[in-house]
Amino acid sequence: MSNPYRSLPYRPFAELLDLSGKTAVVTGGSSGIGFAISRRLAEAGANVLIGSLAPEHSEQLMAAGHTVAFEVTDVRRPQDIQRLADTAVQRFGGLDIWINNAGIYPLKAIDDIDAAFWDDLNAINTRAVFLGAQAAQRQMRKQKSGGAIVNLSSICGHRPMTNHCTYDTSKGAVLAMTRSMAKDLSAFNIRVNSVSPGLTATPGNLDPELLEQHRQNNVLDNIALGRAAEPWEIADAVLYLVSPLSSYVTGTDLLVDGGWLLHGS
Ligand SMILES: NC(=O)c1ccc[n+]([C@@H]2O[C@H](COP(=O)([O-])OP(=O)(O)OC[C@H]3O[C@@H](n4cnc5c(N)ncnc54)[C@H](O)[C@@H]3O)[C@@H](O)[C@H]2O)c1
Repeated sequence: MSNPYRSLPYRPFAELLDLSGKTAVVTGGSSGIGFAISRRLAEAGANVLIGSLAPEHSEQLMAAGHTVAFEVTDVRRPQDIQRLADTAVQRFGGLDIWINNAGIYPLKAIDDIDAAFWDDLNAINTRAVFLGAQAAQRQMRKQKSGGAIVNLSSICGHRPMTNHCTYDTSKGAVLAMTRSMAKDLSAFNIRVNSVSPGLTATPGNLDPELLEQHRQNNVLDNIALGRAAEPWEIADAVLYLVSPLSSYVTGTDLLVDGGWLLHGS
């Protein structure tokens, strides 16, 4: 009798992290975690289109011989997001991977949060995540070859940090959005997952107010592994989630926090 549950042939080890022939878009991919993601995906053989406010470190990847392009993109502008998707197709002939990485994390006490601050942050941290995934899945569905979308959430989507109410809310929304999209897009073999970094050594974390808050809260003492993550350690989790290695993973969040959540503060 044939086995109704077996659907995929065995995949050789060498193919598990191979992204040759795939095209990936990384928002905010020219600095910090996004740059590390762009580099990893390019190292795995993907064509990478970086969409960010400025090229920052993008040229390093081009100089290293990777197939990487840059497009000025402000993810607050819906038309920029659609143009980014269109450019990927025009330049590389398709779109297989979309990483919603661009995000901001300004501190603000509850009493000082107004509607404009709330809307500005969410235009980047939540609305652009939706619009990016929406544009990506349109193209992926046209291609009929599946796809992978990864959204950057945060440990703050799992537990609060002082003066981060708007940010914490936005990252919680990313977790819920990821699950919801994964459900709707699974019929097209488009996998949607999120990565939640803990404290990561990026330019965005060098804000003096944030550094002082981390110092006052003895953050490093509360991280089980006793250190911040390097951006490439977050990128490796993203690589897993877009590669054949995770072909049966969708609608999940990968927490990469060095054990910070274990301490709860
Ligand atoms: N660094 C951390 O400790 C940490 C922890 C948890 C989650 N995260 C999340 O990871 C992601 C990356 O964080 P990071 O620390 O690398 O940030 P970063 O500030 O170091 O870099 C962010 C990048 O996004 C770009 N960007 C900002 N606004 C943009 C916009 N409107 N349009 C297009 N690009 C824009 C910036 O130019 C920059 O290249 C964010 O979503 C952040 O919330 C970071």
